[in-house]
Amino acid sequence: MFITFEGIDGCGKSTQARMLAQTLREAGHDVVLTREPGGSPGAEEIRELLLRGDPDRWSAETEILLFTAARRDHLERVIAPALAAGRVVVCDRFADSTRVYQGLSRGDLRGLVDQLHALMIGREPDLTFIIDMDPETALARARERGGGEARFEDFGADLQRRMRAGFLALAREFSGRCRVLDGSRAPQEVAREAAALALAALPAAEAGR
Ligand code: TYD
Repeated sequence: MFITFEGIDGCGKSTQARMLAQTLREAGHDVVLTREPGGSPGAEEIRELLLRGDPDRWSAETEILLFTAARRDHLERVIAPALAAGRVVVCDRFADSTRVYQGLSRGDLRGLVDQLHALMIGREPDLTFIIDMDPETALARARERGGGEARFEDFGADLQRRMRAGFLALAREFSGRCRVLDGSRAPQEVAREAAALALAALPAAEAGR
């Protein structure tokens, strides 16, 4: 089963991905916890190209190609082999991030993102948690955490508001696999809800194999 976490910067999805992986392991599942951009050695190198340096370093189109190249490597080398071996993959961000960030941030490029996804990735998660949260709070959290990877966080609160709306629209578009979690609650509470939903979905996914 392939599970992803999505949401705006600072929404707490990395923490939630970690907590869910832990809970699923405790329940006896063989879990691979991974992230994007990155998740494989090649994709981690592409991550450096994407998240460091001048924010205008890449055109919107080049950026989509780089995220997709990183995703293809990650899928080929980490995600697909793990799923084929019957493991559960928990991934911090996947294609929905490209749909929202690259699809919305610099004009309407969603069509291009989708075409490239169909051509090069062609895989959707079985279950996606979208952590919904007020961008002001999320941005403050992301800034507090610091680090050099401020590229997208620097876009500011207004863009993050559009991203939030974008993620909620995706949740409606892919309502079969997406579950929206209220990220303003205590992390433990969010984690409990995510774990209950994932554990309920897992037997069906395993029976279907
Ligand atoms: P991430 O490491 O998840 O940062 P955070 O933990 O702060 O949420 O992602 C880094 C940045 O990359 C984040 O601002 C979102 C952006 N991003 C895209 O723009 N497109 C993508 O396809 C992905 C996977 C991430």
